[in-house]
Amino acid sequence: MSSSIIAQNTGPVDSAAGSYYERHIFFCLNQRANGEACCADHRAQQAFDRCKSQVKAAGLAGPGQVRVNKAGCLDRCSAGPVAVVYPEAVWYTYVDESDIDEIVESHLKNGRVVERLLVPAHLGR
Ligand code: FES
Repeated sequence: MSSSIIAQNTGPVDSAAGSYYERHIFFCLNQRANGEACCADHRAQQAFDRCKSQVKAAGLAGPGQVRVNKAGCLDRCSAGPVAVVYPEAVWYTYVDESDIDEIVESHLKNGRVVERLLVPAHLGR
């Protein structure tokens, strides 16, 4: 489907309307039972919980600010654990709570990408 057809059916996207959240971070929490690599094997739930609590503690949670969400497999398992921040579509991996804290402070709060935690572009499933 071409973008012109979309525009005819729904009208142009109005970026001035803004998004409901300024930033949205999704954590893969997928658990595989078959022994294949998965984010849940790398403390993804704890990272999600930490991010959620840090965002809230910083006063960043809510409409117009930041939303922290669970996700299923994001199909980048070999880089796991992974989380992705939109609208910038920046993919992170992490090891511990200090990594999560840095993502919150630097990217979610101040819009600065944490280069050292970026997922290499070639890593997929
Ligand atoms: S299991 Fe996390 S990206 Fe696939």
